[in-house]
Amino acid sequence: MSRDTTASDALVFFGATGDLARKKIYPALQALVREGELDMPVIGVARAGWSLQQLRDHVRSSLEDAGEFDKAAFDRLATQLRYVKGDYQDPATFDQLKRALGASRRPLHYLAIPPSLFASVVGSLGSSGCADNARVVVEKPFGRDLASARALNEALHAVFPEHAVFRIDHYLGKEAVQNLMYFRFANAFLEPVWNREHVDNVQVTMAEHFGVQGRGSFYDGVGAIRDVVQNHLLQVVALLAMDAPIGDDAVAIHAEKLRLFRAMRPLRPGNVVRGQFRGYRDEPGVAEDSNVETYAALKLEIDTWRWAGVPFYIRAGKRLPITSTEVMVNLKSPPLAIFDADLPEAADPAHCNYFRFRLSPEVVIATGARVKRPGEKMRGDGVELIARHQEGRGEPPYQRLLGDALAGNATLFTRDEAVEEAWRVVDPVLDLPDAVETYAPGSWGPAAAIKIVSGKEGWHDPKPERSPPC
Ligand code: BG6
Repeated sequence: MSRDTTASDALVFFGATGDLARKKIYPALQALVREGELDMPVIGVARAGWSLQQLRDHVRSSLEDAGEFDKAAFDRLATQLRYVKGDYQDPATFDQLKRALGASRRPLHYLAIPPSLFASVVGSLGSSGCADNARVVVEKPFGRDLASARALNEALHAVFPEHAVFRIDHYLGKEAVQNLMYFRFANAFLEPVWNREHVDNVQVTMAEHFGVQGRGSFYDGVGAIRDVVQNHLLQVVALLAMDAPIGDDAVAIHAEKLRLFRAMRPLRPGNVVRGQFRGYRDEPGVAEDSNVETYAALKLEIDTWRWAGVPFYIRAGKRLPITSTEVMVNLKSPPLAIFDADLPEAADPAHCNYFRFRLSPEVVIATGARVKRPGEKMRGDGVELIARHQEGRGEPPYQRLLGDALAGNATLFTRDEAVEEAWRVVDPVLDLPDAVETYAPGSWGPAAAIKIVSGKEGWHDPKPERSPPC
């Protein structure tokens, strides 16, 4: 893989009138203009028969609806906007795009369109000459299983070399997710304990209090494993479990992540519990006999010297008690309970030493320890040492990722082989025939999920975050 760090000189986005553009891409473009990182033509392509002025008005109202409108930055963005309208299947659309690109030598094409259109749009970019020297950004979902992901990679590679393909997983653009890797490899004290000798288990929970939010027809063809486990959560595991890269560039980081993905065992159906919240089948767009999971809990095994035998428990669900994504790295208990030995079992802290990474909605890095309670008795309490507590989420992922793609920096994007490896891991548990277990909205999912975690402490449930100590 070659490095490619020359900046793009035009941004083309397909799906200009779509939902993703409205919610995520326009705010990101406006922010990039404000930061001086987007000084180039911005060409929207869409089927709607609008005028350029209508596109400008649409961008403006999208920004206003999102509460993000910034007049000065928007005015500049509006002068950069161009509009190409036409059918994605029609070669004339791409001839028109080629003309709109004018003197651009290195455009970036952003495909915010349904995956069913990827292959034909990519093919037409190639045949029209719009792909020459260009890059392409592809949105998730990247395939729906290993076979379709391979086919998609082949279709992309027929036109774009791998170094010109930027697959978005917006989790990788999150401040908190970047801090996982930074915290691990910018400190020396972690490495001696970050292995099977000291880590008992790792838990990753992505809880969402909300349901499918009107996306029923999309979600019912996908389910939790495809929607967030194969991509976001396996990426988080890769950052937690990989070995140190030899540098901070894309080549070095992708190489270590790929090694880790390769060491993940394919999931076994017996290590997965799937659930569906009560009422899901009444959502618009959802089949009345849907067997699609809105919740999944699973045990992942990683065959490396560092992690052999350490379970990685992953859980994701909609309509859970809270919206929060949190990682717990539970360290082994002290070999002997010298203090607190006479405590009743219920009060016995199973894993009092841990690292906790809250990835959303706040950014928190904390470590758990026990300290003696003041007084005569040798009794203790669990406390947390907080290394970082940030209320906001930091720079929005789409701003960071689009800025990186424009600059040609592929570090935070997923590569062909890694994506395929992640599909290999989940492939055996996609579309399982056994019935999903129903759970009550607002609960922590089906009761059977408890059997996934061995040991007495069970799942760690993220709680509302306390304010940082002053
Ligand atoms: C998306 C999924 O990729 O990620 C959604 O399709 C999910 O179902 C979302 O809600 C969560 O991302 P974030 O950044 O909003 O926590």
